[in-house]
Amino acid sequence: MKPEKKYPSEVYLNGKWLKPDEAFISVFDRAFMFGDGIYEVTPFYKGKAFKQKEHLKRLQYCLDQIQVAFDAFTLEQLMYEAIDRTKLNDADAAVYIQVSRGVAARSHFVPENIQTTVLLYAFPVTLEGFEKKTWKVIATEDKRWHRCDIKSTALLANVMANEEAIAAGFAENLLVRKGYFTEGSHSSLFFVKYGVVHTHPEGHKILSGITRTEVINICADLKIKLVEKAVHIDELVEVEEIFVTGTTTQIIPISSVTHQDKKVYSARKDSVTKKLQEVFIKRTRG
Ligand code: PDD
Repeated sequence: MKPEKKYPSEVYLNGKWLKPDEAFISVFDRAFMFGDGIYEVTPFYKGKAFKQKEHLKRLQYCLDQIQVAFDAFTLEQLMYEAIDRTKLNDADAAVYIQVSRGVAARSHFVPENIQTTVLLYAFPVTLEGFEKKTWKVIATEDKRWHRCDIKSTALLANVMANEEAIAAGFAENLLVRKGYFTEGSHSSLFFVKYGVVHTHPEGHKILSGITRTEVINICADLKIKLVEKAVHIDELVEVEEIFVTGTTTQIIPISSVTHQDKKVYSARKDSVTKKLQEVFIKRTRG
């Protein structure tokens, strides 16, 4: 069964706070026509943002990469306003931001004098109890483009990968490019092999996950050895633990991986994942 998703009670669109059924954009908005926009999701633990600056910095990086002139940090206070207006100060929540290039007659080239479309809203999310979950996942070919570091709204390949997993009763799809794991359809990916944590190096093949960076920092603080090195699907026989990370996912261990209808991995240990979860809870709720 797919979880029920609700609309937020209010959204910010281009300077106005509106009910979702009053918030409209043009059919010529380039995010609608081309997926020509960037998005960001920031968690709020009981009303307090976690790594807000890092999320806004990544938004700025992505906007710069696609040459949309917009100052992401102008949204800093609005994010808190969204939490206030939807009365999520005492709950766990997330803020969704989307900045599209804007509205113009359709053209492949970037039109001149175009105004960005800015959408922002807060929504409740269950962040407590993630440490009790485990995910059964599949692994499939990574069919995305070659700039996965850009958090583009054009998520069709991610949507197709995620749907393939969910429709078959799995929680996530781990993506494999030329035999090497990159990341999940909506999460960063880590492996523990001979006690050493492995994760794909930053670059164009993965998103620079904010939770991923936090996990790397926690490993350094706990003196857990970590290497930014891609893991090949054939190396799974040597892997002891796998976990995925993300803003709403946080840190979730993988219990099994199925690839081409065969189970190719079953969790052997959980000690490293458990240690990381414990420190992560302290940092997000401390
Ligand atoms: N997804 N990789 C991909 C492809 C993602 O979509 C996400 C997050 C991550 C984790 O990044 P972070 O730790 O910064 O959330 C990695 C978000 C939450 C989403 O699309 O809703």
